[in-house]
Amino acid sequence: MPSENQPSLPPAAPSRIHFVVNGQPHRLDNPDPNRTLLNHLREALALTGTKEGCAEGDCGACTVVVSEPHGQGVRRRAVNACIQLLPTLHGKEVLTVEGLAQNRVPISTRCSRPWSMSTLRSAVSARRVS
Ligand code: FES
Repeated sequence: MPSENQPSLPPAAPSRIHFVVNGQPHRLDNPDPNRTLLNHLREALALTGTKEGCAEGDCGACTVVVSEPHGQGVRRRAVNACIQLLPTLHGKEVLTVEGLAQNRVPISTRCSRPWSMSTLRSAVSARRVS
């Protein structure tokens, strides 16, 4: 058993994850813990509107919106898909540019407040500022 001075091992990657992409539920069994959301979107789901630029989290070409439960509401963040690992998406919702083009509304938003383009623009702008 690790003492207080020893770092504990990271939790094992889940054997199954569930998440939503552009309103469509997805289930992955034994997801590769090193696979990025960007690679999954482009290679497995053929959602090539999310681009790879720097692949290091610097340029923002791969930005998507990730929604997750937060307290009594929902927290939405602009995320660089190139550095977001798949297992971290369990229980979350991803909105890509294809979802925006189809006027998809995040499931998490349907119950809380109306979705609007300004919401996404605000999220993306906030990400660029930080
Ligand atoms: S590809 Fe540049 S931030 Fe993801």
